[in-house]
Amino acid sequence: MHKEIHEQPRAVADTLEGRLAGDRVLEQAFGPQAMNIFNQTQQVQIIASGTSYHAGLVAKHWFEYVGVPCEVEVGSEYRYRRHAPRGGTLLVTISQSGETADTLAALVEAQRQGIVGSLGGCNTPESSLVRESDLSFMTHSGPEIGVASTKTFTAAMTGLMMLALVLSRRHGFDAGFEAHVVKQLRSLPSALEKVLEIEDEIAQMAKAFGNKANALFLARGAHYPIALEGALKLKELSYIHAEGYPAAEMKHGPISLIDDEMPVVALMPRDDLYEKMLSNVNEVKARGGTVIAVATEGNEDIKKLVDEVIYVPEVSSLINPVLMAVPMQLLAYHIALWRGCDIDQPRNLAKSVTVE
Ligand code: AGP
Repeated sequence: MHKEIHEQPRAVADTLEGRLAGDRVLEQAFGPQAMNIFNQTQQVQIIASGTSYHAGLVAKHWFEYVGVPCEVEVGSEYRYRRHAPRGGTLLVTISQSGETADTLAALVEAQRQGIVGSLGGCNTPESSLVRESDLSFMTHSGPEIGVASTKTFTAAMTGLMMLALVLSRRHGFDAGFEAHVVKQLRSLPSALEKVLEIEDEIAQMAKAFGNKANALFLARGAHYPIALEGALKLKELSYIHAEGYPAAEMKHGPISLIDDEMPVVALMPRDDLYEKMLSNVNEVKARGGTVIAVATEGNEDIKKLVDEVIYVPEVSSLINPVLMAVPMQLLAYHIALWRGCDIDQPRNLAKSVTVE
């Protein structure tokens, strides 16, 4: 897992490689029928599990930002519930292995429901998902061995942003918008490199969690799924019970959990929701909580409020969630290391869940 975390700059660079022409995403990167299917697409239904599901939740913000209605659901729920048919649905499945049983079964169910097409986002070219889908987008992360998904997560989000850009053209977004985001995507590998350089600081902070039984991850907007991912990584690697929570929801219950035994990780990028996050973190501090903030470089004030700060480089708020995934991975990795856990083969887990 540690090697794979450090492979992310290359994994994202390779996933971008050959899919961009100047300031534009090449539509054919999604398959020969892409243009025809995208022209019929009025909304997107995303299906995935685990970490891939969290990538889908981030992408929902991007699709809706460019005017495409988007629903995200885990396959195990989607496959057994009654559906209200919605025309013009593009089904996007996300699965690094391409063999997750619930995701595959949900694909079959969606095809039965009637969709304009299916697109499989995957890291395994010869997988069932790629075979069963009309279109596919391969991430080029290289094989992922560690049970905990890392490089395939950031690469999947990169691919999903490219899909959002291609669909944005059909929803009144101009070449200028696409050029701006493509420029940001091209800057991702070096921004990821910079985040990896602060690993030692994160390893130090991990000690504060070492003997805790619980943890909370708080965020807002497109960063909330990254809080969910941070909690998932900590659960699956260190066996510490952890929850990701929309920060404003704390007041509706979980804030009762706050004490000095409940470490809180708060994702606080310098974006439109920063002031809101600040007041939520104040609520936690007011109740004696210990807070590690993940903040944007240059934000010195935050040091006065929280216990520890992990700084990430400033990038556009649209792609910032991709960057914030790395401190979540490193924190979980070093906490598990400190606790002596089997990091690549955590108990009770399989790399690909091929059974229901
Ligand atoms: C994540 O670290 C886990 N390995 C797990 O949640 C995983 O994301 C999930 O099983 C989905 O796997 P997939 O991407 O291969 O479909």
